[in-house]
Amino acid sequence: MNAPLSNPPAADTTMGFRTWIEAEVAKEPYWFHRIELAPGLVTPGWSDPYKEKVPYYGLPEDMTGMRVLDIGCAEGFFSFEAERRGAKEVVAIDSFPDSIRRFNICRAALGSKVTGFLTNVYDLSPQTFGTFDLVLFYGVLYHLRHPILALQKIASVSSGTVLLQTANYESEAIGDISVAKFHPFGIQSGPPKNPMFDPTVFFLPNANCVRDMLLHVGLKSVECLSMIPGTVFRAEVETKSVGTPPDQSKAPWC
Ligand SMILES: C[S@@+](CC[C@H](N)C(=O)[O-])C[C@H]1O[C@@H](n2cnc3c(N)ncnc32)[C@H](O)[C@@H]1O
Repeated sequence: MNAPLSNPPAADTTMGFRTWIEAEVAKEPYWFHRIELAPGLVTPGWSDPYKEKVPYYGLPEDMTGMRVLDIGCAEGFFSFEAERRGAKEVVAIDSFPDSIRRFNICRAALGSKVTGFLTNVYDLSPQTFGTFDLVLFYGVLYHLRHPILALQKIASVSSGTVLLQTANYESEAIGDISVAKFHPFGIQSGPPKNPMFDPTVFFLPNANCVRDMLLHVGLKSVECLSMIPGTVFRAEVETKSVGTPPDQSKAPWC
């Protein structure tokens, strides 16, 4: 078990803020995202989203005023990027406690207002989280035993656009058929130079299957944006409205 996040140093302590960030980053044995926390201080993740993901993932340049949900945020690269692009409110969720602990280090280091919750995609509902102008669902679908349930939950909290990326499986022999290849016991995954076994990879859909799943849960204007890395889709709700925080007066915790 890792030590919990210590408090950042008060301004008048001798330990500088940068030293504190470096110590918190060093305490963590694993990082997924590379995130620049201060000039020249980058988390040692094996995935560099600026190079590998941002050019393909359809993230709007200008996110001014948006209420954004980042599902499976890991250390929060896309949440902080949404905030940087002007989002009014960003909610980040991940079902793995270590992800949220590392997210909290980055949040403190960046002085970010993004809120991160240890929450499973299956627990999303408009009563508890409200609705979102933009939902980011990157790199999670193939980790799920119940992908359609997750997409139904996502549709229920979407009031605008959903952006989805997933690892996929394409085969010319399949033609136009919607297919997902099922891996009951995981696959070899992880950093290309140092692959690890990942027991949490279950369904690898082809692009037709992703499109049909998005349509199945009621989303419209489904468009494939990229076939690398994995497959990337954008979809819209039928009738758009402004993303709205949950209404506490309706006692959503009851
Ligand atoms: C491959 S990483 C993707 C991180 C980031 N979204 C990206 O694209 O760079 C998958 C993340 O999804 C999280 N995750 C897996 N299953 C989840 C679930 N059921 N609900 C919420 N998060 C989940 C994992 O803990 C992990 O942090």
